[in-house]
Amino acid sequence: MRRYLPTLLLLLLALNTGWFVVYSGDLGLRGLMSQAPGEISRVFQDDTILANAGIALHMMAGAVVTFGAPLQALPIVRRRWPGLHRRFGYVLFVLAVATGLGGLVYITLNGTIGGWWMSLWFAIYGAAMIWTAINTIYYALAKDMRRHFAWAVRLVVLAVGSWIYRMHYAIWYATTGGIASNKAFTGVFDQIQVVAFFVPYLLIAEIVLRWQSARRRPSSA
Ligand code: HEM
Repeated sequence: MRRYLPTLLLLLLALNTGWFVVYSGDLGLRGLMSQAPGEISRVFQDDTILANAGIALHMMAGAVVTFGAPLQALPIVRRRWPGLHRRFGYVLFVLAVATGLGGLVYITLNGTIGGWWMSLWFAIYGAAMIWTAINTIYYALAKDMRRHFAWAVRLVVLAVGSWIYRMHYAIWYATTGGIASNKAFTGVFDQIQVVAFFVPYLLIAEIVLRWQSARRRPSSA
């Protein structure tokens, strides 16, 4: 049973992101095609073509990354279909970089609804996604599978980060009615959220990775 736990968790993760993946892809596509994108979402403005294109493309690319990264990490895909893992790995790399870049273009041109604090942490999130995607592919090409695996784990965490962000909000509003959160995203909860949706999960991943590599190392005693 323990052998199948990673597969089960990754499948559950991918399936649970489904609603957000559909929402994000659909919103991005409609924003990109519309003559009046400002009517579709507050994220778009009618007079900022480049920022709109950046955020719309990041939503569509991000939708595939969110759903695709956990599936790409499935042990069966890695072991039984290495060719598929390799080809889809390149696709995910390009889309992860596009997701991060699209978000960064939007932040540079438009900022974010929550002001400088939100913009700062979203920019760090975007830069981290680009950096992690580059390292994942770099170590795969260098055939350093230990490092490739570690960076891939970090990339999966970041890939589902945007979904985690929405899940934190859904749980918070369901349990507290939205204490310390407001429509301008400037409440204490909102300000903590921009860090809490990815930094703690990256730290947990780091602890697990270090624990695993310590277990693999032969004891010096
Ligand atoms: C991981 C995949 C990602 C998906 C699926 C995704 C999806 C979305 C969606 C659907 C929105 C529209 C807001 C909403 O309706 O909730 C949005 C907004 C935004 N995203 Fe992403 N995103 C992803 C990753 C990123 C990354 C890596 C960055 C960092 C650069 C980023 C930066 C932004 C920004 C700046 C906004 C607008 C914030 C605002 O002012 O409201 N996103 N994203």
